[in-house]
Amino acid sequence: MGTKGRILVTGATGYIGSHTTVELVNAGYEVIGIDNFSNSSPSMLEGMEKITGRKIPFIRTDCCDKAGMEEVFRKYPDIRASIHFAACKAVGESVREPVKYFRNNIVSLLNLLDLSMKGEGKGIVFSSSCTVYGEPDPENLPIKETAPVKPAVSPYGRTKQMNEEILMDCVRACPSLKVISLRYFNPIGAHPSALIGEMPNGEPQNLVPYITQTAAGLRKELRIWGNDYDTPDGTCIRDYIYVCDLAKAHVAAVGRLLDGRQENRFDIFNLGTGKGLSVLELVQNFIRATGADVPYRFAGRREGDIVKVWADPGKANSILGWKADTPIDEVLLSAWNWEKKVRGI
Ligand code: UFG
Repeated sequence: MGTKGRILVTGATGYIGSHTTVELVNAGYEVIGIDNFSNSSPSMLEGMEKITGRKIPFIRTDCCDKAGMEEVFRKYPDIRASIHFAACKAVGESVREPVKYFRNNIVSLLNLLDLSMKGEGKGIVFSSSCTVYGEPDPENLPIKETAPVKPAVSPYGRTKQMNEEILMDCVRACPSLKVISLRYFNPIGAHPSALIGEMPNGEPQNLVPYITQTAAGLRKELRIWGNDYDTPDGTCIRDYIYVCDLAKAHVAAVGRLLDGRQENRFDIFNLGTGKGLSVLELVQNFIRATGADVPYRFAGRREGDIVKVWADPGKANSILGWKADTPIDEVLLSAWNWEKKVRGI
């Protein structure tokens, strides 16, 4: 038995959920993981169990299924807090299928809230995104939590903004509820064991999986979307954060919720490194760190892309006592090792 209490992890076999579950177990928490496997697979659970050497309690259910969620809370009355990862996250798909995004990302949170607002106080750590800032005004870079939330550029982004607003209203209505919203910048990489990692369905939309699949020979070449932006090398700038560092921030956030240190009942933290990297720099770093071959060419701009955004993680550094400090070469190597493992290279 862990000693620190039970945490419900929704989306536990997903990319960030699986890495976080591993860190929670390693930190001495009991977990109950749930997932509907809509964008993950049971093999992730095997990897998580190998890494931790523990059987991880898991229930296959959909957070939009109210009865299924009630069953989870009935079976595990000792749940003290939840980390809510389960959500759809593909920006392009959200433009084509907005109803799917609103239903999934809103209804799942409402179900979790209904159950979390009953009885004793519960905490929720919510997976948010830097997408809520839109294209930051240059004077707001690096971006702080106090920067304005801009109109969302996609239904996906809008669901994250709406989720945060819903959470704020529920905290106001329920004195026993505490919420920490974590705004992720660009999570990349995989666990150093290469037993869990990112598993995109079909053609990857995100940069690092596209790079690793190109290096593995699954894709002919990487297209860099735009090299005529107002940045030093003309390509977009992002704050790439190692998924294992990100996972540890969740452990810190849950710890604050459970031990009473978290005084604000609704709080927001940016999770990034504080350092912006251009797409071209990232590709060149990958080639240097791994020695792999990544054919690339410059192509036109991708619609809806933010030009530059990177975090001011100062609040998370000081209050959560957390810092993303894994060197980028190590992070990129972990992504490559995972791809090689998946492809049997
Ligand atoms: N890029 C390419 N070629 C590719 C893929 C990406 O050049 O094949 C570029 C993009 O144009 C962008 C950068 O790499 O400049 C990063 O793109 P990603 O798609 O990896 O990440 P985004 O910053 O666009 O989006 C991510 C998440 C979204 C989230 C957003 C803001 O994927 O879910 O951050 O939080 F909404």
